[in-house]
Amino acid sequence: MQALKYLNKYLIKYKGLLGVGALFVIISVVFKLFPALLIRNSFDTIAEVIENYKSGQVQNELVRWELIKYGLYIIASAILQGIFMYFMRQTIVVMSRHIEYDLKNIVFDQYQRLTQRFFKQNNTGDLMNRISEDVGKVRMYVGPAIMYALNTGFTIIFVISIMISVSPKLTLLTLAPLPLLAFLIYKVANLINVKSLAVQQQLSALSTFSQESFSGMRVIKSYHKLNWFGNQFKEEALKYRSVNEELFRVNATFQPIMILMVGISTLLTIFVGGQLYFAGEITAGNITEFIYYVNLLTWPIASIGWVTSLVQSAAASMERLNEFLSIEPDFKSGEYIPDSFKGNIEFRNVSFTYPNSGIEALKNVSFTLASGKSLGILGKTGAGKSTITSLIVRQYDPNSGEILIDGIDLKQWHLPTLKSFLGWVPQEAFLFSDSISRNISFGLNKTEAKNIQHAAIAAGVHENIIEFPNAYETQVGERGVTLSGGQKQRISIARALAKKPKLMIFDDCLSAVDTETEELILGNIKQATSSISSLIIAHRVSSVKHCDQIICLENGSIIEKGNHAELEDAGGHYSELIALQLDVS
Ligand SMILES: Nc1ncnc2c1ncn2[C@@H]1O[C@H](COP(=O)(O)OP(=O)(O)OP(=O)(O)O)[C@@H](O)[C@H]1O
Ligand SMILES: [Mg+2]
Repeated sequence: MQALKYLNKYLIKYKGLLGVGALFVIISVVFKLFPALLIRNSFDTIAEVIENYKSGQVQNELVRWELIKYGLYIIASAILQGIFMYFMRQTIVVMSRHIEYDLKNIVFDQYQRLTQRFFKQNNTGDLMNRISEDVGKVRMYVGPAIMYALNTGFTIIFVISIMISVSPKLTLLTLAPLPLLAFLIYKVANLINVKSLAVQQQLSALSTFSQESFSGMRVIKSYHKLNWFGNQFKEEALKYRSVNEELFRVNATFQPIMILMVGISTLLTIFVGGQLYFAGEITAGNITEFIYYVNLLTWPIASIGWVTSLVQSAAASMERLNEFLSIEPDFKSGEYIPDSFKGNIEFRNVSFTYPNSGIEALKNVSFTLASGKSLGILGKTGAGKSTITSLIVRQYDPNSGEILIDGIDLKQWHLPTLKSFLGWVPQEAFLFSDSISRNISFGLNKTEAKNIQHAAIAAGVHENIIEFPNAYETQVGERGVTLSGGQKQRISIARALAKKPKLMIFDDCLSAVDTETEELILGNIKQATSSISSLIIAHRVSSVKHCDQIICLENGSIIEKGNHAELEDAGGHYSELIALQLDVS
């Protein structure tokens, strides 16, 4: 319960809505009670008429109008009660939606604040759950739970006070079964929560499975694994059905329990009330009034159980959220903002081990990329090339050694500023499900958007784009055109070029294009980056041979350094690669 304290500041923020909502709750409860008093009066009137009739007095006309008047009052209170219940929802539930909106934004901001390390440690499903499921459960507390708690509280106070004023004895006896009702409903609601959780988990297993089969459909079909997947799906769907059946079984007990308890209370009212009537302690109208009260109290008392279980699951969700919101990013950006950017990078004895896998990806790496020059990094798969780029964009901090950019330690740099100077083409091209032009202009503001086409031409992808049905406005991704690996890579290059960065980093981004196109793009890149520094990572000698400086990486260590001409004759790894790659082509 402690966890929910966090939400108090939101309840205070929206105290206006909450206060007005509580007022509407009270008004609607009052109108809910009116009919009971009216029913009491009409019954007593009828009883009186009967008595008078027995003693020879007839007052038909008068009584008829009296009763019609009561009937009209009852209808009017029902309508007013409905109207105020509507207002009550319009205020309290609306408030809960506002709080939900605020919380979602806070959770999302926290996601953006956290570093790569956090995202590696948590899977996407968990991340999604926090922002949708947990926030949703918390909303049930600030919305429906508070609303029903207020409603229940006021109804119980008002109804029980009236009942006691009529007959304390009858009140005690008729209400006796209701606490048991609250307890049973609480148990059932808890069981429903447990079962719903199982249903949700199985549903997400089922959808993950289907999603994977849809995206892997090509592989499944070409390996002819349709039957296997079909059977697997059946199995998952069967599990889903059986957890759902369990849920329905529990759900089905809800109504009967309520009806049973109300029945017992009503029976007690009539039985005990009848005796009190004959003893002359209450009137006939009081008995009918009490039956009405029992019915009025049933739902609020049942909802105590329901609300309790809502609050419990909200508390559990809020605890998860609090824990998440209290995570501090493992490093913070520095403050350094330079007047101009030169693009000089220096690694000094940098070593780095991935925290999650314990793999030592870089060992004592030192190199310098001078301002305006190009550096090629060559190495086998897993050598640590991409790790170098991850460190430059500060996805991680090195375990030892220093990274200096323009002579300033990376840790002192104001990261958003540094990133505004960088054009990074990651190894795995990622395109958003959006138009090609918006994918390229991703790093730009509106006024620079005319750079899109220039960038696409330089990246050698313009020709491809204009062949698509809507050219630059073609949608890519799930429901759009499927691009080839090489096209994706080149759009990703265009995205980085369009930004007109001061330092370019190409991580193996020409692996999926043929050597001829590579040559063309490299020429364009060279032109586009002639005045800025660039870092080119590759497997092929052809991609890096024009670089001012080349380093060869193996198992996280630099084994060779020099320019193409020097390394060609050195008789080391680089010259072996040349021989090998020439052989192949
Ligand atoms: N996020 C990560 N978490 C844990 N280990 C990682 C992570 N990324 C890379 N590694 C490991 O670090 C080592 C270096 O990986 P890196 O991605 O830098 O290689 P690479 O030279 O870029 O290879 P490739 O040419 O295949 O892209 C590998 O052994 C890899 O398994
Ligand atoms: Mg890599």
